[in-house]
Amino acid sequence: MRRKLYVVPIAAAMTLSLAACGGSENSGGGTSEAGGDKVVDVVSWWSAGSEKDGLEALVKVFEKQHAGIKFVNQAVAGGAGSQAKQKLAADLAAGNPPDTYQAHAGAELDEAIKAQYLDDVSPLYDEFKLRDAFPKTLVDRLSVDGKIYSIPTNIHRSNVVWANTAVLKEVGLDPNQPAADMDAWIADMEKIKAAGKTPITIGMEWTQLNLFENILLADLGAEGYNGLFDGKTDWNGDGVKKAIAHYKKILDLADKSMLGEDWEPAMKPVVDGSAAYNVMGDWALASFNNAQKKAPEDYVYFAVPGTKGTFNFLADSFTLPTKAKHKDTAKDWLNTCASVEGQVAFNTIKGSIPARSDIPAADLEKFSDYQKSAMEDFKKDTIVSSIAHGAAVPAPVSNAMLDALGKFAQGASDEATLQAELAKAAESLKK
Ligand code: GAL
Repeated sequence: MRRKLYVVPIAAAMTLSLAACGGSENSGGGTSEAGGDKVVDVVSWWSAGSEKDGLEALVKVFEKQHAGIKFVNQAVAGGAGSQAKQKLAADLAAGNPPDTYQAHAGAELDEAIKAQYLDDVSPLYDEFKLRDAFPKTLVDRLSVDGKIYSIPTNIHRSNVVWANTAVLKEVGLDPNQPAADMDAWIADMEKIKAAGKTPITIGMEWTQLNLFENILLADLGAEGYNGLFDGKTDWNGDGVKKAIAHYKKILDLADKSMLGEDWEPAMKPVVDGSAAYNVMGDWALASFNNAQKKAPEDYVYFAVPGTKGTFNFLADSFTLPTKAKHKDTAKDWLNTCASVEGQVAFNTIKGSIPARSDIPAADLEKFSDYQKSAMEDFKKDTIVSSIAHGAAVPAPVSNAMLDALGKFAQGASDEATLQAELAKAAESLKK
């Protein structure tokens, strides 16, 4: 499959929400100098908690592999890049990009590619001997017309339910027998609510989209879900209507006080045992690990009911902006990101699985049971692309969806309006 760029019309591009930029550890674009020393300015959104730990592990390997280069951490707070992406768009447009930045594999990079903000890094795939290191399904999403625009560090999965074992047991649910579909899962949540417990927590807009995309996947199936991105499945149709109805029921069962929170605080009640469920990508694993929680005694994980056998995929990767000020050191960073040692150090902590498919067996042993199961699933499941994490649609489309879901969660729109707004957001995807 050869990926082509999505062309999003200007009107859709203007629906970009204009939330204020979050603080970064270093305010400018690619501006750092360290008295003539070699530096590399790196933007990510791994600025706190378990995500920061993952980045630090990667930086340690970088400092070992490329001694003498100062890693300048320009991380911008905000899960899923909710703030970083806007700052990056502005810095790229102003010709002042960092030396390299985190981006999702897939349609998310389309605009930067179209605007010629990024170098084709395929020569680095040859130099670092990466041509056969990554699975084809990933390289396809990183490539446009034969060129490759970033180097992946990891593969995450978005369709995971994280559940507190004690809460489920308390209300008589078997933690090892998750519900098979949305209706059965909602029935379980009603049971939890009737027992006076919080069935599910949901955080800010992107976490709402993370949940909603997986309800779409459950209700439409993999083929129907994929059809949402090429016009084959109607966003105004009954399948999406059904998913919205399920989503509304779940939202009504959720702890609404968390709707402004990022993923980690929204996950905390499940880690601590004051709520039953949260749907989140598998970076959540790190949160349980950091709290010294063990599966299955303290928590269990399972595919979002109705999505078993499907792996809702996303991957983080790093780019080489054309106007980067320190391209040589940026290449060194990309080299570490791609390396076996870098991917093992980073992913064991981050909860993801390595993007490389040639990790030595001895290193694979360092991964948790969850990650080993994700590696197996990635090999055998049907792979679909996450909307919330840049794989399926360009940023203007997902931003318009985030706005629509945010309104809905706040009670400022009804189900029919949400569906109409989602359909409008997706208009530009029709081929
Ligand atoms: C995703 C990203 C993950 C993780 C998560 C929460 O978009 O791919 O690596 O950082 O956001 O911030």
